[in-house]
Amino acid sequence: MPSHTSIRLIDVADAPAIAGHLTRDAEEFARWLPARPVGFSTTPGQVARIEQLLATHGSGGGWPGVIVADDAVIGQVTVSTIVRGPIQKGFLGYWVASAFQGQGHASRAVGLTLRVMTEELGLHRVEAHTQLENLGSHAVLRNNGFSPWGIAHAHIHIDGAWRDEMFWERTLTAGAPAPR
Ligand SMILES: CC(C)(COP(=O)(O)OP(=O)(O)OC[C@H]1O[C@@H](n2cnc3c(N)ncnc32)[C@H](O)[C@@H]1OP(=O)(O)O)[C@@H](O)C(=O)NCCC(=O)NCCS
Repeated sequence: MPSHTSIRLIDVADAPAIAGHLTRDAEEFARWLPARPVGFSTTPGQVARIEQLLATHGSGGGWPGVIVADDAVIGQVTVSTIVRGPIQKGFLGYWVASAFQGQGHASRAVGLTLRVMTEELGLHRVEAHTQLENLGSHAVLRNNGFSPWGIAHAHIHIDGAWRDEMFWERTLTAGAPAPR
């Protein structure tokens, strides 16, 4: 039976689970996610990072979440770089541990995050970037109503090379009144 997917705000107590996934999936993720400093994938490294993410959340700059399946933390979904004023947008990133991929968790988690962005954060627009070859990530975004609107050449340094990225967008509140 397919497992249930939920999201919630990250907690410092999630550090060991996240460090475990990042360590086990280091090889798999190296092709898709930027290199991290030494110690990043350890529990103390994750405690420090989660504290930073929660501080940013506290100042209104982001919404750092974990993806949960049947009570276990299986990944992360993060709204960052929130811009207010006349723009009202956030940037979306996510990963799911390889042992849990291919079951729809990322697609459902992104859908739930769009609800948080709309209902809790009151945002108007969401953006994401993917490498051209990351077909799974393209599908996650298409499943959630995103459209690609351009390609940025040599946009991010990952796995030893500058990679092109597709830029994706989705409006959250088409027709909503302008912010006051
Ligand atoms: C990308 C990622 C988040 C997808 O997670 P997931 O939980 O497996 O995603 P889903 O189960 O929701 O699958 C989404 C779709 O991708 C498709 N897909 C997965 N891998 C694929 C691949 N290599 N090629 C083509 N399609 C693929 C699935 O078939 C599914 O398609 P469907 O909804 O049309 O049936 C996961 O692979 C991951 O964490 N990768 C490493 C980190 C990363 O790339 N993060 C995103 C950076 S932009």
